Amino acid sequence: MATPQQPLPATTLPATPPKALKLDTIQGDILSGLPKKTETLYFFQIKDVAKFRKDLRNLIPHIKTASQVIEDRKAIDDYKRGHHGCEGHRPALIPMVGVNIAFSHLGFKKLGIDDAKLNDSAFFAGQRVDAGQNLLDKGAGEGANFSPDWEEPFKKDIHGVIILAGDSHATVEAKLHKIKEIFGVGLGGAKDSIVEVTTVRGDARPGDQSAHEHFGYLDGISNPAIVGFDKNVPPGPAPIDAGHVLLGETGDALPRDPWMVDGSFLVFRYLFQKVPEFDDFVDRNALQLPGLTRKEGADLLGARLVGRWKSGAPLDLTPFMDDPELGPDPSKNNNFHFKAEATFQKMCPFAAHVRKTLPRDDLERLPGFSLAKNRIMRRGIQFGPEVTKAERSAKKTFHGRGLLFLAYQASIVNGFQFIQKSWVNNTGFPFGTPEVPGVDPILGQGPGRDIGITGYDPNDPKAVLKLDAEWVIPRGGEYFFSPSIKGLSDAIAASA
Ligand code: HEM
Repeated sequence: MATPQQPLPATTLPATPPKALKLDTIQGDILSGLPKKTETLYFFQIKDVAKFRKDLRNLIPHIKTASQVIEDRKAIDDYKRGHHGCEGHRPALIPMVGVNIAFSHLGFKKLGIDDAKLNDSAFFAGQRVDAGQNLLDKGAGEGANFSPDWEEPFKKDIHGVIILAGDSHATVEAKLHKIKEIFGVGLGGAKDSIVEVTTVRGDARPGDQSAHEHFGYLDGISNPAIVGFDKNVPPGPAPIDAGHVLLGETGDALPRDPWMVDGSFLVFRYLFQKVPEFDDFVDRNALQLPGLTRKEGADLLGARLVGRWKSGAPLDLTPFMDDPELGPDPSKNNNFHFKAEATFQKMCPFAAHVRKTLPRDDLERLPGFSLAKNRIMRRGIQFGPEVTKAERSAKKTFHGRGLLFLAYQASIVNGFQFIQKSWVNNTGFPFGTPEVPGVDPILGQGPGRDIGITGYDPNDPKAVLKLDAEWVIPRGGEYFFSPSIKGLSDAIAASA
């Protein structure tokens, strides 16, 4: 899910100019994605409320807005084209770092800020509780006492997260050092207004895998295009109103307090991936079709679990053979709808990850039905080392690796929580299909996983594939709200 430093699409004006978005106040990660090869997430608790509010005022000038990210991306584009001369002496990437900040419900509570009009039950409950009630993470206890099988720091109260994305560890670490100074961290005595709960770091994978997640599939392809922001949108799912990502914008009908406008909910999930085990599964269950080698049969099965080939090419467009040119081509690789096979899974299984998480015409073929409110803006990055030889030969994971999953939306209940609970974990979704689909094999959790999935074999849609292992293991997370700069200045930081 890495969005490495990529050029922005060329621009043309939309037919009806929509309400202008205030790009100078929207935090940069939401609409554009902070450019990144590496990202550090610094999770904190607020210790001294009055001092924190003052310190926050000093952080604000460091926060990157959407308009600054657009500038940064233009600079990256120019740099890549070599407009700056000095070839041979310049670093591969422009040194650059982007900072954003977001708060949990516990954070707002600690600050004494009334966040009732954020109006999101998942946000108010927090992810630790939601993990038991709705997401079906493994763990012990029930309700408010649920204790997921997560890493210890994520079971603690987390008040906020500072996101630092950049070109290199050195640039990001220098900025983190500066930010710690702002909040007095490490200065001793009563000088610190926050304490660190934990820090996690993600890195784009090396070489030609840099935009691929750890199982090897190209990621970060399909994110919603926003009316009034994205221009010259390539064919694919219809652009959505900004209010499905940003509070208070067109499409968000709920009453909000002024400080909430142009903010967005941020979901973080700390997802570990068992790569050798996944590879072993697709190898053991390789599809045996005429003319396919075992390796090709394994690749086809993997593609059927994800809904795209490793190149990014969608099964709905090329069901039986990868198309390495189509895969990374943004003008073509999202142009599919499952239209021809709304009740049919020869081309792409109903349970495939991309079909479960955005069912396109499986639902949108119904008159007047729109999936806009369920769309999320994914901004993740990989963490952990590449698979070692020892792991590959043991078919077992010895080193932690996976995805720092981050996603923005105007409602966690309609966005991330709905996708995981009502689609991914739901064996019967999409509804009204001739075969019971089963859970999303990549992400599905809970008892439904034991049933297995149908549709893995293109020639026998009823055949069931048992999922004898889990390859994505949640080990932490929290729900946050990422306010606008105006919201931060007017309501959260101390007045100037
Ligand atoms: C380690 C865990 C995960 C892996 C390996 C993974 C992998 C992928 C891949 C390879 C794609 C296709 C590329 C693309 O369209 O951008 C994708 C798409 C997507 N994923 Fe995931 N993902 C993971 C976690 C999640 C989670 C937690 C969610 C939300 C509950 C999610 C929601 C989506 C959505 C909405 C899409 C785009 C679907 C579309 O628009 O066609 N993913 N993911």
